[in-house]
Amino acid sequence: MVAVGPDDAAEKAAWLSAVEAVIDQNGYCLGSAVETFENSCKEQLDVEHAFGVSNGTDGLKICLKASGVQPGDEVILPAYSFFSTASVIRQLGAHPVFVDLDPGTLCIDTALIESAITDRTRAIMPVQLYGQTSDMDSIMKISSDRNIPVVEDAAQSFGVRYKGNSSGAIGSAGAFSFYPTKNLAAAGDAGMVVTNDDKIATQIRQLRVHGDTGGYCHESLGWNARMDGFQGAILSVKLGRLKQQQDIRERNATEYLRALSENNLLDRIKPLERTPGSEHCWHQFIIQTDARDLLREQLASRGIDSGIYYPGTLPSQPCFADLPSAQKHFPVADNAALSVLALPVHHRLNEGDPSRVIKAMADIMEAAPH
Ligand SMILES: Cc1ncc(COP(=O)(O)O)c(C=O)c1O
Repeated sequence: MVAVGPDDAAEKAAWLSAVEAVIDQNGYCLGSAVETFENSCKEQLDVEHAFGVSNGTDGLKICLKASGVQPGDEVILPAYSFFSTASVIRQLGAHPVFVDLDPGTLCIDTALIESAITDRTRAIMPVQLYGQTSDMDSIMKISSDRNIPVVEDAAQSFGVRYKGNSSGAIGSAGAFSFYPTKNLAAAGDAGMVVTNDDKIATQIRQLRVHGDTGGYCHESLGWNARMDGFQGAILSVKLGRLKQQQDIRERNATEYLRALSENNLLDRIKPLERTPGSEHCWHQFIIQTDARDLLREQLASRGIDSGIYYPGTLPSQPCFADLPSAQKHFPVADNAALSVLALPVHHRLNEGDPSRVIKAMADIMEAAPH
């Protein structure tokens, strides 16, 4: 289900010539290939600032620090996401405060945020999970009422807009991941930080390079988190193909929804709901079912790959066992960990493939006990 590497000989040739240009320009760490990619992203996303970074995890760490998170602060986040949404908070010496999910979208339940706020809350970090945003109007209202910055984990939502605004740049700052399974995929690790705030942008620029303000003067502790020139060059090639690939993902998702309904499966297999106002890049096409493990096993035996993102909640991770917030109950997140299944939705599928996957699922469910 993972689309990695060039799609065809023409794309491979484009990668190689982009890489050759980096060698000719000697632009290995940041450099002109990264700058070109950053400028294209600024234009496409309509954001003021875009910074190529080493990966999405480093990008999140930079966003949190640039937004003022310090040791001892609390950061509110959903109880269900990729591990690094929470690990970056802890690595900064701050405390993750988990909140349960909206049962329809599996994004953060915004009705539960207020009660998680304390005097030490320094940021709210929604995760734009699976390719659509959270309910950002509600989150931004809490942010402005309580004067708490919003840092977006936009790792899975490059190019997605919420009511016209680019995910990642709705709050104070946000980070994308270009890990090879993402909709915009590098040939290795890479990420990007975006913001519309000039002051935060100045911090981000420094934090990306050891907190260097210029001339080896370090006013803060940053990281070595530069995007590599080769990745910038290849990402520019991939960005040029993104629109066409997104159209195919959209077509696949539409076909899944139609086939689920046509096969009368919607009472036992539920696709996620859409966040009103949000586009969707279909990083993943997720269904929820109590027959998840059976389906996954039987699909695999028919040569159909599927994935579980994620098999456990964040509060259940052993490294967070000492957190007071991890002692609470998160019934929606717990149920998600037992019931979600990602079906292949990438741009290399052919028309008709999603219908065949759903037909296979219908056959499996028919044979399965209710
Ligand atoms: C929700 C989420 N947050 C953060 C990350 C971290 O990104 P990266 O793997 O580029 O460090 C990922 C990527 O897997 C992710 O899916």
